[in-house]
Amino acid sequence: MVEDANGTNLQNSAKRHCIIDSEDGLIINPQLALTKQIYKSFGSATTVELYNDTIIDTPVIIKRLDKKLLFTEAQNESAKRELEIHRSLNHPNIVQLYDGCETNDEFLFVMEYIPRHDYFTEKIEVNNRPFNSKSDGGIDKLKSFTYDILKGLEYLHDNHIIHLDLKPANLMVKPVTQSNEYPLVKIGDFGLSRRFGEEGGVIIDQKCGTDKYIPPEVRSGAWITPAVDMWCFGLILHTLTVGFAPYVLKWNPGQEIPFNPRWWKKYKDTGLTDLISSCLKLDPAERITAKEALNHKWFDCRLG
Ligand SMILES: Nc1ncnc2c1ncn2[C@@H]1O[C@H](COP(=O)(O)OP(=O)(O)OP(=O)(O)O)[C@@H](O)[C@H]1O
Ligand SMILES: [Mg+2]
Repeated sequence: MVEDANGTNLQNSAKRHCIIDSEDGLIINPQLALTKQIYKSFGSATTVELYNDTIIDTPVIIKRLDKKLLFTEAQNESAKRELEIHRSLNHPNIVQLYDGCETNDEFLFVMEYIPRHDYFTEKIEVNNRPFNSKSDGGIDKLKSFTYDILKGLEYLHDNHIIHLDLKPANLMVKPVTQSNEYPLVKIGDFGLSRRFGEEGGVIIDQKCGTDKYIPPEVRSGAWITPAVDMWCFGLILHTLTVGFAPYVLKWNPGQEIPFNPRWWKKYKDTGLTDLISSCLKLDPAERITAKEALNHKWFDCRLG
């Protein structure tokens, strides 16, 4: 759960040099050499590329949002918001933005490179395998992962930011240098994130998010609060533990979650099912907060 020294050096170096002002306007510093493209989804404005900073021989990521593919004013506003919000963040459990700008053609985000960016999607969505097998670190690793996600969420919520698109694809895993530590989980992709004021929430124009992770209260014109992220966290925690979301068992929001002993027996006295239930309350006001969840008994439990 500790940031490595390399990351800090790069942050200082890259912050000064990634995007420079040239005769042609803002451009990527030629000292950054393209290594490969790592993400492009058909029809989406987003391209994610891996670069190497040739001066310090360290990888960096550049995410580009192509303005030609931002069709509506709302999409353009979201891109501006993503840049503004991501720029303001600095926490070990948040993907670090080194530099960012808007040019005539695109929005550019220069970020730290997270090597295992597909870790969660591969494990859950592709292989459908839970994380808690002994050979893969067991319950302590699960705890470490969930602790990291909650620390990132606590930081966002303390800073009056709702992520609004928390899901496995937006959680990335960075190996750490100390061999006794589990990899660090980092929250990325602030493309839907919203700031909220002292009232504790914000109204959204449009329903947004990713299908099965969208909380029940997220609709066009809805008042939303940080509790939306806790709903997504609850679904993620359920999925990390047993490999599937409760919907698979025909569960509907508002109903009791079916914690069938076939999968949950070994967590009987850990508080884990209580934590998940506290996140998946239909009424957002009843959901546990990130700060409360960090003090939940799940983090004290030991399995024999
Ligand atoms: N800093 C990073 N290091 C490594 N991989 C990254 C990084 N940032 C993003 N990626 C990879 O690129 C993918 C897409 O990035 P991101 O989630 O920020 O874009 P997006 O807004 O979801 O794109 P889309 O609009 O197509 O859904 C991530 O799911 C991850 O696999
Ligand atoms: Mg994403």
